[in-house]
Amino acid sequence: MTRIELVRGDITQQSVDAIVNAANSSLLGGGGVDGAIHRRGGPEILDECRKLRASHYGKGLRTGQAVATTAGRLDARWVIHTVGPVYSGSEDRSDLLISCYRESLRVADELGARTVAFPAVSAGIYGWPMEDAARVAVETVRATETEAEEVRFVLLDEGAYTVFAAQL
Ligand code: AR6
Repeated sequence: MTRIELVRGDITQQSVDAIVNAANSSLLGGGGVDGAIHRRGGPEILDECRKLRASHYGKGLRTGQAVATTAGRLDARWVIHTVGPVYSGSEDRSDLLISCYRESLRVADELGARTVAFPAVSAGIYGWPMEDAARVAVETVRATETEAEEVRFVLLDEGAYTVFAAQL
């Protein structure tokens, strides 16, 4: 049985086996969580991302998919990069958001990660309303079979934390 934990804080400072990055399909960095991970983790992560692009993802990582690198200077051993969908008011893209959590946990299992931290994927720059992002995150993790003993949602601000707490 996987334990679900809630933490208010910075995902780059979590001492877990794997942290999940809310990346974009280029895998070459950006703002938000992605910017913070590359800034604190150092250039090693970006080097590995570049190699992944060259070897496997010439057109980029597709939305809803996940891939791992090591974690450079971070406490975590691995970063699992996933690409969330941009929110749309006219089209239901929740299957892609569900896929981000499922695929990230599948990759975590492949790595042998027992503790995994997630941010609120798509709920920042990609515009997903926090209530719905939290619902999808919590429901999907609860419904996904994984070897992970702990899944930790790490929320940067009080508002997001409160929304996730209500969902749990
Ligand atoms: N720790 C935990 N949560 C954080 C942190 C942090 N250090 N920094 C931000 N958040 P976002 P997205 C929260 O924008 O919506 C990037 O440019 C943030 O407040 O990081 O999936 C990528 O390269 C929000 O609640 O990810 C993509 O282009 C949540 O994490 C794009 O942004 C997710 O916000 C991805 O956008």
